[in-house]
Amino acid sequence: MGFNKTIMANSNAAPSNIPGVKAVALPSNPTLEGCEVISRSDGKSHQCSINVLNINDIDAVLNVQDETVRHIKDSSIYYPDTREVFESSLSNDGLIIGCHVNSRLVGFRSIWFPRARPENLGLDIGMQDPSQLSQVAHLERACVIPEFTGNRLQMRMTRHAINLARQDNSFRYLFSTVAPMNYASMQDKFSADMLILKLVKKYEDYYRYIFFQNVMKPIQVNLENPSSIIFANGDDIDTQVNLLQKNKLMAGCLQQRNKDVMQVGYTKIECTLF
Ligand SMILES: CC(C)(COP(=O)(O)OP(=O)(O)OC[C@H]1O[C@@H](n2cnc3c(N)ncnc32)[C@H](O)[C@@H]1OP(=O)(O)O)[C@@H](O)C(=O)NCCC(=O)NCCS
Repeated sequence: MGFNKTIMANSNAAPSNIPGVKAVALPSNPTLEGCEVISRSDGKSHQCSINVLNINDIDAVLNVQDETVRHIKDSSIYYPDTREVFESSLSNDGLIIGCHVNSRLVGFRSIWFPRARPENLGLDIGMQDPSQLSQVAHLERACVIPEFTGNRLQMRMTRHAINLARQDNSFRYLFSTVAPMNYASMQDKFSADMLILKLVKKYEDYYRYIFFQNVMKPIQVNLENPSSIIFANGDDIDTQVNLLQKNKLMAGCLQQRNKDVMQVGYTKIECTLF
């Protein structure tokens, strides 16, 4: 399977008077897409609408997070966000996309602009210039309640977040952290053409991949030649850390299932990151 992958990242919408993050007036709860989803409870198809949420949706967002977390078997996969963080994304510092079925919120995807805060993932890849750091956006949490998983809602919401962002060039550098072995979440990032640049300990000693893309100058990876891709098992942390540390130009670009094992593919990137 050879193909040439052009990685495009995105930008996003949110008001601010800080250079690099443009003010955007989004209409209240605009519908971005209507789609059919299958419920795991009754096996039936339901109409779902994907919307931009506002501050009035804060309790619904927290309820979806609570219900999702209650069903997660491995707690290292997801680190819940606080009410304050979601409020920040719903106010001036980001954006949250949500999925409604029968007027009930069943899933969300949040984006946050860290700006000058120490959590800015630009710092993790050596970004220092304040004007560059101010153009960073984080793809933050995504939750879909168990009844409606299996409909690829996370990927749909991410795509809408990216499209909204592209409309106004509001940010330039897109980041996200993902737990190793969180297949669905990694699929979400790879399908948004993001690349793994690092594997580091974050969040109370849990390892996380740092995914990245440069919106204005997309990083391209050439996957024409499969022999140029090095595969590592997703649960083999040491091998992946070594690959990324020893080769500053190496990036994770895809994942595959090999029998029961999830593997991550790494290849060389040949351009500057930012
Ligand atoms: C991650 C999450 C949002 C994805 O929900 P979703 O959009 O309904 O995803 P889907 O169930 O449609 O699955 C998408 C892909 O992931 C795979 N997948 C889903 N859950 C999986 C699991 N537990 N193990 C392995 N693969 C899984 C699906 O098979 C599918 O893969 P494919 O594209 O190769 O067919 C949801 O599972 C969730 O809320 N999880 C808990 C919170 C979390 O981990 N959030 C992400 C980090 S912030």
